[in-house]
Amino acid sequence: MYLGLDLGTSGVKALLIDADQKTIASANGALEVSRPHPGWSEQAPASWIRATEEAIGKLKSSHGTELSAVKGIGLSGQMHGATLIDSQNTVLRPCILWNDTRSHAEAAALDGDPRFRELTGNIVFPGFTAPKLAWVRKNEPQVFKQVAKVLLPKDYLRLWLTGEHISEMSDSAGTSWLDVAHRVWSAELLAATDLEERHMPRLVEGTEPGGRLRDELAAAWGMSKGGVVAGGAGDNAASACGMGTVRPGAAFASIGTSGVLFAANGAYLPNPKSAVHTFCHALPNAWHQMGVILSATDSLNWLSQITGKSAGDLTRELGEELKAPGSVTFLPYLSGERTPYNDAAIRGSFTGLGHESGRAQLTQAVLEGVAFAFRDSQEALRAAGTELGKVTAIGGGSRSRYWLKSIATALGIPLHIPAEGDFGAAFGAARLGLIAAENADPLTICTEPATAETIEPDRGLADAYAEAYGRYRALYPAIRGTM
Ligand code: XUL
Repeated sequence: MYLGLDLGTSGVKALLIDADQKTIASANGALEVSRPHPGWSEQAPASWIRATEEAIGKLKSSHGTELSAVKGIGLSGQMHGATLIDSQNTVLRPCILWNDTRSHAEAAALDGDPRFRELTGNIVFPGFTAPKLAWVRKNEPQVFKQVAKVLLPKDYLRLWLTGEHISEMSDSAGTSWLDVAHRVWSAELLAATDLEERHMPRLVEGTEPGGRLRDELAAAWGMSKGGVVAGGAGDNAASACGMGTVRPGAAFASIGTSGVLFAANGAYLPNPKSAVHTFCHALPNAWHQMGVILSATDSLNWLSQITGKSAGDLTRELGEELKAPGSVTFLPYLSGERTPYNDAAIRGSFTGLGHESGRAQLTQAVLEGVAFAFRDSQEALRAAGTELGKVTAIGGGSRSRYWLKSIATALGIPLHIPAEGDFGAAFGAARLGLIAAENADPLTICTEPATAETIEPDRGLADAYAEAYGRYRALYPAIRGTM
């Protein structure tokens, strides 16, 4: 048995697979995000431990025998978060998360230093880790002084699981401190934020062992001693391992809290100008590109809160048949946007409201707005030299037929729905646990799931969607500067 642990933004998921990679069971522990000021997004690292204990506790009750047979554990996690600990491993402040934009001025300043784009292959986005440390240095100097290590969220979980400070390439590529082509920490970039390599965890590849489960936890969960914990991956690279998006050209669209259009690459292909992210993959010698939309299902959840209707009720109200976009346009920039604008200050908008615009029209506009944001990422990947091959859709938003049809039509390409099963980040993490524990061949393990169904773009609505996308594109420059 192998265990995948995915530390997401809204919860921790624990998933057990057997040696044939069949999912045996999964369980969740819930998490909440605290937003004490506009643009801030934080979580207490202690809540990650609580949620992990909750998820594993549930697995222990329902599948204790299988859990006791676990030989390898893989970790996946929300990327970019700055978890700051002192020399006693005590957490110094709440973790500043990936969708926190408070450090936009610091990000712009670091991005102005050409070495960052040159060595990391990426814009220094406000959500990335380095500018957060520059913000802490300036605004919380007493905290900064005590920082002994900066850990990404899943690597803090690893510290609790194994007692070791270790990270891996895919998640570390999102810090702005990694030399992404050479897969090593850059002393030069660290120095730009007054840090040194000693502040960073040791690096392994995602498929390699990265610590062993502490005896105390193994005993508490009824597991055998010394289970291998794999390097693991940032959640996007972990999902790619779960979906078999590992060979050049393979791609997926993840419609989760954030939206991600991810393409696997056989080489390092940076293009920071297009605001595409270029990161190491979880497999050795592989890289990937992705466009990132900060609020995907988060946009629908926001509307759900406002209307008091669940996200499922809202999408059901639209029926299954795709409609032509109406007069209402939604820009999903609730926490600013990464691809294609790198604009932390921009905020979302509804335009074209009329007396006739009811709840269903607003829902339709929200789904379309996110679909057009995916189209923006497709164009950004295109500008970076990547034409999408087979695209598989995953994430909570892919439960809505309407949304899938809308995204396929906005992209002008089919979306493939995987056969029954869970191929997300926790599954990918479990695969990495298997590879590390058994020294297995990553490409043999990370295969693609069978396609259950293919959602074709609605050719009859192609023109209406193209026109609406044109309106959508024109709105960003129009509202920019009005915030
Ligand atoms: C990727 C990113 C998000 C988080 C979500 O750059 O910020 O996809 O990883 O968990």
